[in-house]
Amino acid sequence: QPLVFSGVQPTGNLHLGNYLGAIRKFVALQDNNDCIYCVVDLHAITAQLVHDDLRNQIRSIAAAFIASGIDPVKHIVFNQSAVPQHAELAWIFNCVARIGWMNRMTQFKDKAGKDRENASLGLLAYPSLMAADILVYRATHVPVGDDQKQHLELARDIAQKFNIDFQQKIRETGTGVDMVVGEEPIHGYFPLVEPLIEGPAPRVMSLKDGTKKMSKSDPSDLSRINLMDDADTILKKIRKAKTDPDSLPSEVEGLKGRPEAENLVGIYAALADRTKDDVLQEFGGQQFSAFKPALADLAVHVLSPITEEMRRLMGDTTHIDAILRDGGERARARAEKVMAEVFDIIGFLR
Ligand code: TYM
Repeated sequence: QPLVFSGVQPTGNLHLGNYLGAIRKFVALQDNNDCIYCVVDLHAITAQLVHDDLRNQIRSIAAAFIASGIDPVKHIVFNQSAVPQHAELAWIFNCVARIGWMNRMTQFKDKAGKDRENASLGLLAYPSLMAADILVYRATHVPVGDDQKQHLELARDIAQKFNIDFQQKIRETGTGVDMVVGEEPIHGYFPLVEPLIEGPAPRVMSLKDGTKKMSKSDPSDLSRINLMDDADTILKKIRKAKTDPDSLPSEVEGLKGRPEAENLVGIYAALADRTKDDVLQEFGGQQFSAFKPALADLAVHVLSPITEEMRRLMGDTTHIDAILRDGGERARARAEKVMAEVFDIIGFLR
């Protein structure tokens, strides 16, 4: 039985990368799957401990989920700290994972910078908590942007090591399922998660530099479109986006070596639910002076209802708070069951 899980950090404003790489996929997946979507507040304190208005940041991510079309009744929307089992399983995974695995994470290297000795221990252990987020529900599919791929590979490594190290205990407790790892049939407890990264915009790039990821931490606001930007701001940012002097090619191959063109075409395709090829069939041969206004119109058309609904939801937060409370309770009930089995497998008394 597939189960979808994903999370978004409540740090800074959501941008088009978060929307196209993650949230839009969350919405698409809910028709045919059981889904759990989480505001990962415990992760938010790994890079920066003290936040100005964390509570409202958490609410605004939940508001973005709801405004984008996620159904919090059929599915689960909650914040991570409401379910203590995330941190509990993360501790166990800290004992499964090896320090070397964590040291190899490119996101840790980027975020810790040169002064690695001075990074928080939480920042190093970040991927272990992320694995726990997913596996405390034994979730199987995780929609994310391309930048999270390495973390999900680590979640597979953790699940696999747990399954192998506790093979005997998993059999004795009758909690596992037969699965195949590589060619090897094993009896495992935790599934090996499948990342869902595909799509026309798995990695949305900065509007100012097609070789850099669109990011909350870029000092230039012109580098990204924020979910809360108004129509004029979106128009201006797309008008000022970096491009090259050539016209658009009529096939995807023609985008090679043209990172800015590739990025804008990918954004258009993702917003329109079309392929890049399809978009180029329409716009191939045209100049950016013609393509940019079409892109800006489309972006405003898709984003402005979401922005408006987010504003409305954040106007009176009782509704969002109720959704999070209800989601937290339902998530906790599921996580408790998994943790009880994990305790039995490890041999803790309960
Ligand atoms: P976060 O909060 O940085 O980003 C949320 C989601 O947005 C995607 N994303 C992008 N996609 C395409 N282009 C971009 N420029 C771009 N920037 C961000 C991210 O890939 C992500 O899917 N570690 C995660 C949060 C997390 C999580 C989890 C995710 C914690 N536990 C469990 C999945 C499952 C993070 O920092 O995402």
